[in-house]
Amino acid sequence: MSNATRRGFIQKSILGGLVYIFGTPLLGAQNAIENSNFKESFQLKHSTYNQIDWAKIRAQFLFPTSRQYLNTASLGPSPRTVVDTISKTIEQLETSCSHGHHLTEKTHTQIAAFLNCSPDEIAVIRNATEGMNIIARTLRLKAGDEVIITTHEHVGGAAPWMALQKDLGIIVKLIDLDLNGETNFERIKAQTTSKTKAIAFSHITCTNGMKLPVKKLADFCRSKGIYSCVDGAQALGMFPIDLTDLNPDFYTSSGHKWLFGPKGTGLFFMNKKWIQKLNPVYVGAYSDSKYDLNSLQMEYRDSVQREEYGTRNTAITLGLGAAIDFITSIGIENVAKRGRELSNHFRKKLEQMDSIEIITPKSPEFSASMLTFRIKNADNLKINQQINSQYKIRLRGIYENNLNSIRVSFAVYNTFKEIDNLVSALQEITKKK
Ligand SMILES: Cc1ncc(COP(=O)(O)O)c(C=O)c1O
Repeated sequence: MSNATRRGFIQKSILGGLVYIFGTPLLGAQNAIENSNFKESFQLKHSTYNQIDWAKIRAQFLFPTSRQYLNTASLGPSPRTVVDTISKTIEQLETSCSHGHHLTEKTHTQIAAFLNCSPDEIAVIRNATEGMNIIARTLRLKAGDEVIITTHEHVGGAAPWMALQKDLGIIVKLIDLDLNGETNFERIKAQTTSKTKAIAFSHITCTNGMKLPVKKLADFCRSKGIYSCVDGAQALGMFPIDLTDLNPDFYTSSGHKWLFGPKGTGLFFMNKKWIQKLNPVYVGAYSDSKYDLNSLQMEYRDSVQREEYGTRNTAITLGLGAAIDFITSIGIENVAKRGRELSNHFRKKLEQMDSIEIITPKSPEFSASMLTFRIKNADNLKINQQINSQYKIRLRGIYENNLNSIRVSFAVYNTFKEIDNLVSALQEITKKK
């Protein structure tokens, strides 16, 4: 049975049989999003940034306001609409004994609209790490091929290439980044050779929240026949991203950070120019456009959704769609502006403290909604623990690349008051030193 036939069959059996048996249309799962109080009431009420009721947005999140959570870069808690979509979908699918695979079509369309690309260029996967593994293995590199990565990559962005070094003998070249952001393009470019096959880099580094020039690097890669492989785990949901304009070969991201999506979701983009040229590594049901076991004939779908082989968790995929709806109802430009305002507020306060060094670039060209700092001559990982235990403020210690620093994330649920509380805590800590 081909993929198209399979989909038609499933759809018919669900819609034909289950509606009558259980009396509840399965498509009600999708309506969980539309029924969200937040979306209905919120979008109507604000038309400009200044009209946005941030307290109302905060009230959509389940964690208590007593928790000062400034660690979205590690994990973004989900708003009510996402949690409701997941639980309602699970309930409906369990009631109807169905996996509901066809319902996920809507999510691909939502993601594609959000990122300005085609739904066929998008697959919903498990996390950003899975995306980078798909990229690394799909390229079919050989011993001696060079791949450039940076010293600021997350383990999920670096390990898939390091594994290829072990397995195949590719050469991974590590580029140390400029913490000011300004010379990073030149640094990376200078290390490319005729053997360079791919450059894998973060859109926003997980260490100091530094923005790398994706469009410039993607253009450069294209001109040299090098694959551009972008890890967008820290960027997607933080500010507007237009994948048609940036035009990378590959882009992967988590659903569970700045998108506030379900844990266990990720997004994977493959530029349409590669879909027919690069074969998938893992395949199964839904990878094919034609499949016949008896004649051993199989053709792949002309869509990156062929990466979504086998039975998947429809509830969390729809939850990811609800998360994108939540962000678009606020407006991604507004989300970005809020993050920058909170970050600037914190930066201004830190700039008045001699004992503190900021290691995130100031320019919006090289930074967004994260700020990393260190207290000079101190063990900042210990200080981070102290801030958590004594002041109940959740940040993230940065040990990567020996940065000995503390990272703060600014999301839609954060407030200026929380930042002032953090500044007071830092003033007390630095005074005692
Ligand atoms: C830049 C970057 N890439 C990849 C990851 C791993 O993400 P995931 O858990 O979705 O695989 C992270 C997580 O913090 C990250 O910051």
